[in-house]
Amino acid sequence: MSAEIISGTEMRAAILEELASEVEAMKAKYGKVPGLVTILVGENPASVSYVTLKVKTALKLGFHEIQDNQPESITEEALLDLIEQYNQDPNIHGILVQLPLPKHISEEKIIYAIDPDKDVDGFHPVNLGRMVIGGEDGGFLPCTPAGIQEMIVRSGTETSGAEVVVVGRSNIVGKPIAIMMGQKGRGANSTVTMVHTRTRDLAEHCRRADILIVAAGVPGLVKPDWIKPGATVIDVGVNRVGTSSTGKAILSGDVDFAEACKVAGKITPVPGGVGPMTIALLMKNTVRSAWMALENKSSAAYVCR
Ligand code: GUN
Repeated sequence: MSAEIISGTEMRAAILEELASEVEAMKAKYGKVPGLVTILVGENPASVSYVTLKVKTALKLGFHEIQDNQPESITEEALLDLIEQYNQDPNIHGILVQLPLPKHISEEKIIYAIDPDKDVDGFHPVNLGRMVIGGEDGGFLPCTPAGIQEMIVRSGTETSGAEVVVVGRSNIVGKPIAIMMGQKGRGANSTVTMVHTRTRDLAEHCRRADILIVAAGVPGLVKPDWIKPGATVIDVGVNRVGTSSTGKAILSGDVDFAEACKVAGKITPVPGGVGPMTIALLMKNTVRSAWMALENKSSAAYVCR
């Protein structure tokens, strides 16, 4: 048996096409386009490459895009002032501060400073709280978990009543996706187990999963005999395991992909799986934020399109 590959690259293309039509509709109705600012502090190579891709995608969609690069030495106060400036800017609908930040800046303070109605990353506690409460009045969903859920839906995997096992408990992926999959609604209604480094017999839990979501940051952690035959496997790991002769990073997931393909029913590759979906969902959040602003609605009162 060889698993069906769930291509994040192809799904991203479909989502971006849908969003491009929305941008056209927005221009026609309001004469405005979504505005996104991406703030990058310092020159962390991984962050530079993520931000470059985000900027490129925003520009391709016709967004008003500001790439605001700041030196590693910027003070926390100056960064807070900058965020406040974008909070007040009516042409900016989404503010993204690329993480991680230098050690002298509190990520918590920076995230808290972003207007929740412009928090297209979905990291602000107000949006995380709305996500936990669920329902139609939800705020912005964090992009990677939202991308994972979208991939599961678009791959035709049944989630209702399914056993979902999430490996990892980070604030950005593990915790939110575990909550989202257990909610009522589309692509959810699952029975969720969240496992982590202190879990006894990790493999045994994974073997029960109809949908296995792995966000541990450990290359090749999940072995083929951890996978239930026919399961859908979502590999969120992006581990730099080497450098090619041309100087490009060689990436590997948290799942032993070649062997897992022989057992799983559907599986995401690395690269080309979850990564492209994160960017697509960031763009989707930004378009939604722009509609909210143009229609004078707070995210709490806005029904998702
Ligand atoms: N660093 C790694 N992933 C992300 C992300 O999704 N958003 C931001 N802002 N920083 C990140």
